[in-house]
Amino acid sequence: MVERTLTLIKPECVAEKHIGDVISRIEKAGFRIKAIKMLQLSRREAEKFYEVHRERPFYGELTEYMSSGPIVAMVLEKENCIADFRNFIGATNPKEAAEGTIRKEFGKDIQMNCVHASDSPENAVREIYFYFSDREIMD
Ligand code: CMP
Repeated sequence: MVERTLTLIKPECVAEKHIGDVISRIEKAGFRIKAIKMLQLSRREAEKFYEVHRERPFYGELTEYMSSGPIVAMVLEKENCIADFRNFIGATNPKEAAEGTIRKEFGKDIQMNCVHASDSPENAVREIYFYFSDREIMD
């Protein structure tokens, strides 16, 4: 089934000028970019986006970090997009990510791990519409 997912290129990856490298790999792997924008989250927006993690010990650090600089948000589309994209980026902790994945190559630690990716169809819809309107998503 053709699915969509939401990905974010995180602040450290943008700051280190890896936007082009990451997007190039994503496209070459067969994911179609359906929407794209650069923005900086406010602390309050980051708290809202990551509210499922509110009770986690790392919630404060995570939301401070994700609002610390510009990010790039994208909607990607492909068959089995959600699971395939999570495999493509590698494990959450870059130290455990497989060779050849973007988290292995560009991630620094579990927080500065290059990209975010939706983890389920329900979250993908919520996350896509957190950043984009229908008009900004190509058919
Ligand atoms: P992401 O895919 O953006 O979704 C939630 C984020 O929480 C995750 O990537 C990690 O960057 C972060 N995260 C998960 N576990 C930890 C942890 N133990 N310490 C710090 N950050 C974490």
